Amino acid sequence: MKEETRSDLSTPSTRQAIRRLLVESVIPLRKLFIGSLICMLAVAGFTAALAWSTKLIVNEVFVAANASAAIGVALLVIGVSLGKSLSQYVNSILSVQINRKVAIRYQKQVFRKFLFQNVQEFAGIAAPRHMAKVNLWGSACGQVVLALTNKFLTDILTLIALVGVMIWQDPVMSLVTAVLFPLIFFLVSNLTRRVRELSKAQAELAGNISTAGIEAISGIKTVKSYGLEEKSFARFSDAVAAMEKRLYAIARATSATVPLMELLGGICIGLFVIYASWQTLSQGKTPGEFTAFITAFLLAYQPAERITKTMVAVQRNLVHVEDMFAFLDQPDPNDSRGEGSLDDVAPSITFEDVSFEYDASSPALHGVQAAIKPGERVAIVGRSGAGKTTLVDLVQGFYPPTSGRILIGGVDINTIPEAELRRHVALISQDVFLFEGSLRDNIADGRADATPEEITDAADRAAVSGFAAQLEKGLDTPVGPNGTSLSGGQKQRVGIARALVKQAKVYIYDEATSALDGENERAIMKATLGRESDSTILFITHRPSTLEWVDRIMVMKDGKLVAFGAHEELVESSKAYRSLFNLAVEQQKKAKGRYGRILGFFQRNTG
Ligand SMILES: Nc1ncnc2c1ncn2[C@@H]1O[C@H](COP(=O)(O)OP(=O)(O)OP(=O)(O)O)[C@@H](O)[C@H]1O
Ligand SMILES: [Mg+2]
Repeated sequence: MKEETRSDLSTPSTRQAIRRLLVESVIPLRKLFIGSLICMLAVAGFTAALAWSTKLIVNEVFVAANASAAIGVALLVIGVSLGKSLSQYVNSILSVQINRKVAIRYQKQVFRKFLFQNVQEFAGIAAPRHMAKVNLWGSACGQVVLALTNKFLTDILTLIALVGVMIWQDPVMSLVTAVLFPLIFFLVSNLTRRVRELSKAQAELAGNISTAGIEAISGIKTVKSYGLEEKSFARFSDAVAAMEKRLYAIARATSATVPLMELLGGICIGLFVIYASWQTLSQGKTPGEFTAFITAFLLAYQPAERITKTMVAVQRNLVHVEDMFAFLDQPDPNDSRGEGSLDDVAPSITFEDVSFEYDASSPALHGVQAAIKPGERVAIVGRSGAGKTTLVDLVQGFYPPTSGRILIGGVDINTIPEAELRRHVALISQDVFLFEGSLRDNIADGRADATPEEITDAADRAAVSGFAAQLEKGLDTPVGPNGTSLSGGQKQRVGIARALVKQAKVYIYDEATSALDGENERAIMKATLGRESDSTILFITHRPSTLEWVDRIMVMKDGKLVAFGAHEELVESSKAYRSLFNLAVEQQKKAKGRYGRILGFFQRNTG
């Protein structure tokens, strides 16, 4: 199984991931790496010097009973310790920088990649899950790079230097110690395999926690009005419990390495004491040499222990690094698109036998065939689930048609870069999304180079100025996160103003006036569907009152375009339209208890 073997340090894919991670990180940060390499060499050298200096202490000071040598040796020891501490201090500062810089770099890359994914990729996946990945993957990269280039290297260099001291003092005993190393290696690598297995679904578990929490908090009104507090709490508790269990299992595997090392260290020292006593008694070695050997051995214990810990951590994080590279290497949705432009075309929209399915089991559009003239105002009507939103999502290139083509001004929109398409098509949806900032900031999002006059003008036309005037700071009033301090209808008006600023060739209103009262809706219809601009407008609506502003009407039913024409024609020719329209009149009557506007509409159009 692929799952089983991946991110074993020995598989080619893991080695490749490590190589790529190092190449991508080390080259841009080479100054930091060189600085920390110098520190690491210094740490290793000073540590070995410290071990070796114990020989001087024992032989020159104690065995020789030479008090005057003590000062020199003491100064040497203090100097060496000072050097080691300083290099460690600088190295840990550099480590933090390396770790953060690598992590941030990849967090940015992943987030950017998410933003440029197809809308399809987001369907059915909650936002916190994406954010959990951004965080986890980025920090995993930082940890791996730091472990391999710094922690690992410091410890290995230190270990080499100390082993050098050991061999120099007593080659035979060093050999015995060396034999024990493969044993340690074997035990530790078994443990690391277990940790890797456990780490696999960790991102998923972390995502579950944030999803459960954030959903409940952002939907707090729904939670309360349906009495779902306990249910939300239970979901959160389950997610936390699953994560807790996983962390304990990981901790059990990780924690075993340290005691294992301690045990082996104890065995080594025991053996050494027997060997040393025999050597000094019968072979005439100096006590200083043994002290230096034992000190080097004891000092080597810490880096050796850290190396095994680091190996475990690297294994755990490599799972995430590989997942991240797999994600980053997905082809960019834009790669397959052409270089076309819509700058010089008239905004006609042609649907050529367009079909679409979200997945094999849910077909949403069948063979839609229609030609919309430049500057035409077209309403799209149909029952809920008929495919209206799907149709306009395709016009924005959120999804490519499963078959058929959509052309704007004769250009297949699949051959235009997404950014170019979006620049010319503006969407105003029912659930307007506003960013934290002022009313003015949100309207200005419509176009980067909009002038202040254009912003005020759009605010006037979309009836934002009216309610903004009542606010303390006018257009500079903050709207709160996602416009929470505005009413539904106010948010819609800001959304419309933002779209007007964009000066797009095609405007799509997806029930964009549903939260507005009649008077505001009328004002906005006049401003947006009025004849001043030559944009083409698609207008999804359930309200017959808005139909008087349009030239033609597309009638959708079960994913098919069943009729397309002016209101008068459709009343005559389309049963689907009549039934829909009557239904709508009924609804309106029930909701408002009067015919007023609809009657007026009929008189205008039939009289
Ligand atoms: N993301 C999706 N994944 C799978 N199926 C979807 C998705 N979005 C919509 N559908 C399905 O596609 C069909 C058309 O949906 P669409 O949203 O286009 O309808 P609509 O006409 O806009 O309805 P409404 O008037 O309620 O907004 C429906 O059957 C719906 O269940
Ligand atoms: Mg819809």
